[in-house]
Amino acid sequence: MNWNKALAENALPEGARQVVTIGEQTVLLLRHENQIHAVNNKCPHLGLPLQKGKITEDALVCPWHKSAFDLNTGDVKAWSPWPPGLGKLLGCLKKESAMKVYPTKVDDGAIWVQM
Ligand code: FES
Repeated sequence: MNWNKALAENALPEGARQVVTIGEQTVLLLRHENQIHAVNNKCPHLGLPLQKGKITEDALVCPWHKSAFDLNTGDVKAWSPWPPGLGKLLGCLKKESAMKVYPTKVDDGAIWVQM
């Protein structure tokens, strides 16, 4: 596991999101309640991008089929629960799995991601 310089710290103000590429991974950086989070931008359900997902309390909700993941741990809070019927069908296409989250730190004016 290495620390990777991802973005200038001032490029991610409160409430902002940025997608960066680190190695072969597309990582979504977001600042929520003054905490910086880094997650794999591919939803574990069908691999669609998470960057436009809504944040509710401490969860990131996938904009596609509404699976919800804990922002701190990546744990599943809801698995493809919406819309009724279709969401359940799509939820069956892939086994429930957590969102990948990465440790972050701010150092020397930059956001760093460990991966
Ligand atoms: S792609 Fe995210 S819930 Fe289906």
